Amino acid sequence: MPMTDAVSASRLTKTFGSRRGVVDVDLRVRRGEVFGFLGPNGAGKSTTIRLMLGLYRPTAGEITVLGRDPLLDGVAMRAKVGYLPGELALFPRLTGREHLEWFSRARAMRSTTYRDELVERFTVELDRPVRALSKGNRQKIGIVLAFMHRPELLVLDEPTSGLDPLLQDEFAQLLRETAADGRTVFLSSHELDEVQRIADRVAIIREGRIVVTDGVEQLRRSAPRTVEFVFEREVDPGAFSGVDGVRLIENVDHRMRLAFSGAIAPLLRVAAELEPVDMTARAADLEELFLTYYRDDARTTEVGR
Ligand SMILES: Nc1ncnc2c1ncn2[C@@H]1O[C@H](COP(=O)(O)OP(=O)(O)OP(=O)(O)O)[C@@H](O)[C@H]1O
Ligand SMILES: [Mg+2]
Repeated sequence: MPMTDAVSASRLTKTFGSRRGVVDVDLRVRRGEVFGFLGPNGAGKSTTIRLMLGLYRPTAGEITVLGRDPLLDGVAMRAKVGYLPGELALFPRLTGREHLEWFSRARAMRSTTYRDELVERFTVELDRPVRALSKGNRQKIGIVLAFMHRPELLVLDEPTSGLDPLLQDEFAQLLRETAADGRTVFLSSHELDEVQRIADRVAIIREGRIVVTDGVEQLRRSAPRTVEFVFEREVDPGAFSGVDGVRLIENVDHRMRLAFSGAIAPLLRVAAELEPVDMTARAADLEELFLTYYRDDARTTEVGR
């Protein structure tokens, strides 16, 4: 029997009264990949995740998770999923150990070896009531709860928030191991850097809609490079309007910064005519690409076509 995708959503829409949650979301997460879900505050990441978990009923569209309908088949589906919510709700008076015991029993886990390994790796504080723990230390308990039963699919809503850099590295390592084991990771984040380090593919969501889905490598290749020219006098950026793939980022104090995704030669020919006194160029930068999807393009002006 062919394996279904880990997650498959088609025209998935969720509105809250007149408020949009997410609109026409199409997603395909393949088995065994680390899939990053990026977007600014309020974009719809947590809403999408809650639809995946069957915590919300879609207003329209379809979603299957591990081949199952999260609403009709939620119990069977959730047994194979590890979920780390964006706002982790633990029992304030219980200790970490009590949480782990309780959830291990609820999931009828036969072995606790892996669980205890994770506790060691992330130096989880087990003996104090969780209300007395820092945010990062609570988050570590959430991570163990999500991973300890070796679920087929990990759904992680901003998992590294509150973790120090050392633990973020440890966590990235854990995600790679999980994927290498043939299991699937879906994680949301605000941080491009984090996602480009650990994800195979990413989707960017903005104002409830997916604006791009692609492999991290493909995105990198299509990302604009940044070139900066310094001129002796003020230069009209319109000079570059005949060059394909050029966009003005900034033009102040005789310094002109351009994002470009075309061939370099035509750009240099035009620039040379303007007698620049200096030039720097940066390799393709996902950050630039990301920002163009992330924010309104009001701060950038289209040069050329
Ligand atoms: N239960 C709800 N009732 C009403 N509106 C909601 C509800 N849940 C989400 N929304 C709205 O849906 C939109 C998307 O919110 P969501 O929490 O999915 O964003 P997010 O991408 O997770 O943001 P953040 O990065 O801040 O966590 C927001 O406009 C939000 O106000
Ligand atoms: Mg959220």
